Amino acid sequence: MSVRKILVTNALPYANGPIHMGHLLGYIQADIWVRAMRSLGHDVTYVCADDAHGTAIMLSAKNGGVTPEAYIASIQKEHENDFAAFNISFDHYDSTHSSENQARAEEIYLKNHKAGHIAVRPVTQLFDPEKQMFLSDRFIKGTCPKCNTEDQYGDACESCGTTYNAIELLNPRSTLSGSTPVEKSSDHYFFKLPDFNNYLQQWTRDQGRLPVSIANKLDEWFEAGLSDWDISRDAPYFGFEIPNAPNKYFYVWVDAPIGYMASFENYIKTKRPELSFDDYWKKDSKNEVYHFIGKDIVYFHALFWPAMLEGAGYRTPTALFVNGFLTVNGQKMSKSRGTFIKAATYKEHLNPEQLRYYFASKLSDKVEDSDLNLDDFIQKVNSDLVGKVINIASRCAKFINKDFNNILSKQCAEPELVQHFIDAGQQIMQSYESREFSTAIRQIMALADKANQYIDEKKPWALAKQEGQAQHVHDICSVGINLFRQLMVYLQPVLPTLASEVQQFLKLEHFHFASRETVLTDWEINTFTPLMQRVDKKAVDAMVDASKSSLTATEKPVAKAVKKSSKPAVKTPTTDEPIQIDDFFKVDLRVAKVLQANTVDGSDKLLQLTLDVGEPEPRNVFSGIRAQYAPEDLQDKLVVMVANLAPRKMRFGISNGMVLCAGDGIIISPATDAKPGDKVS
Ligand code: MSP
Ligand code: ZN
Repeated sequence: MSVRKILVTNALPYANGPIHMGHLLGYIQADIWVRAMRSLGHDVTYVCADDAHGTAIMLSAKNGGVTPEAYIASIQKEHENDFAAFNISFDHYDSTHSSENQARAEEIYLKNHKAGHIAVRPVTQLFDPEKQMFLSDRFIKGTCPKCNTEDQYGDACESCGTTYNAIELLNPRSTLSGSTPVEKSSDHYFFKLPDFNNYLQQWTRDQGRLPVSIANKLDEWFEAGLSDWDISRDAPYFGFEIPNAPNKYFYVWVDAPIGYMASFENYIKTKRPELSFDDYWKKDSKNEVYHFIGKDIVYFHALFWPAMLEGAGYRTPTALFVNGFLTVNGQKMSKSRGTFIKAATYKEHLNPEQLRYYFASKLSDKVEDSDLNLDDFIQKVNSDLVGKVINIASRCAKFINKDFNNILSKQCAEPELVQHFIDAGQQIMQSYESREFSTAIRQIMALADKANQYIDEKKPWALAKQEGQAQHVHDICSVGINLFRQLMVYLQPVLPTLASEVQQFLKLEHFHFASRETVLTDWEINTFTPLMQRVDKKAVDAMVDASKSSLTATEKPVAKAVKKSSKPAVKTPTTDEPIQIDDFFKVDLRVAKVLQANTVDGSDKLLQLTLDVGEPEPRNVFSGIRAQYAPEDLQDKLVVMVANLAPRKMRFGISNGMVLCAGDGIIISPATDAKPGDKVS
């Protein structure tokens, strides 16, 4: 076999929030593939980085009162911890905010510039006069010019579906400051994507480059015609300044994929100087480069990215491997249902390898969505891993440990059966290589069934009680251990921790695919210890509960940095301090109607409410009920509010009142015939 030199990347997660189950699908998929290819003896380099630039990250840092650098550093640390807990075996993890990435981005830009692929022309956009910044669509709201629905974002109306330019909105306002944006023109830099039209049409149709379903989708885009891509953003922006263009920054999606190259470059510099960057990235490189990405970011990876590389004279990726989206219990992940499960929450309650196994049993090379059904998860892990695979070892090791001094039999009593397990490896590894993981798992479990069947038929536990059957028991259990070893070699890409424990149990130096060829005879093993706990339904329920209420956890990086806001927002009075009736009358309780509810950028805990309290102007109130309610659930809902609470300045804005809740954030709602402004007593 010739050793292939392969560079693998995963999509770079935004440095603006925690890793969750949906992210993990793609990272676990790539890691399984990487481990399988390494097991086959290939030279695989696997890199990733945090995607650290952009307006959202800049504003989150600002809201948290920290520099963007401090903000992204703390998120990166969390991401790296999460990936480590799930055994994602990156050789290197970097940040797109690195000097190497800056240099590479400048170089790629300048080469494209020199080749005539950059255009400059003025663009008129809405500008927030208070914040002194241009507003992207998500920071503008106003009334739909078509159907007059209020409170629509700058790109499209959620009510009538019309898409428009933010400038066309009626009564536009900045969601950052509330001020009325003004039109302002400035020069923008464009990457001339249509220059690459023919090249890309060919590229996307090259054999094996893209999943066919994606290539078909791209054809629709080609038919619609490619347009120039706006690659600049005006200051203030957290990113890299464009060379020879003061106050213009690369749009985050320019330097994000270049981060793949820069992370690899830093890997070579810091950990593997014998590798050569050019061997992987020069135009005629024979080494392989694969990007694992989710289906939502295909446009960037299948059009802009190969075009930029081609324009700058670099090689393009060998292939893109695209994963579908993850649902939990058949639905989009939801905070109120407790199915928006963060990696950190999962690992507090459950074993990460079990998630890897479940995902593996679902994944194929197709761009299909996968569902994490929690009941099915419990059932599958317990029945396959604990009930089938580990059961083989625990049934057999007992006798080897107890009656045979930890030494396997000198002979293999079932050479054909063991050989069948060894031979089956070819197909299993083929399934891994073609990313047909669900097939690989089916093939492995079919073998596990065979092994259990063998033990069931031979009944070593019965023979052990009979006179003169010791050799027989020794032989059967030794075969069982050999079969178990084969299974674990095949499961090793999916279950690396378990595999390494088994490797120790069997006193084997390594678990490479090829190592399985030697049958273990007259071989000393260790005493068996339980290898994996069953998934406990209670732990799953606890994880779901924690996901409903673990809302502060994501805010940690900010909370840590901002000491002053870390004290509890609400002081609970003790019941043994009675108040007088006059005290109670001081509290102006009123019925209010929710005109609008929004999530708050940078907070997993709060919703921003616009309330009609029967006053001429609506009130802005922040309420810590995001775990319990989706914004749309609250539309037009009546609530009770403390109307005369002194306004409080929070890091997201000023909160002008407080909404009453019972227990854990359940809104107290008055009878439906109450009117906004009614006094509550
Ligand atoms: N920063 C960009 C990628 C830049 S790559 C040069 C980005 N970041 S992300 O954090 O939003 O997503 C990271 C990866 O997770 C992407 O591949 C994305 O498709 C994937 N997923 C995010 N949510 C997901 C699900 N619910 N299900 C499956 N994959 C999901 O995009
Ligand atoms: Zn509309």
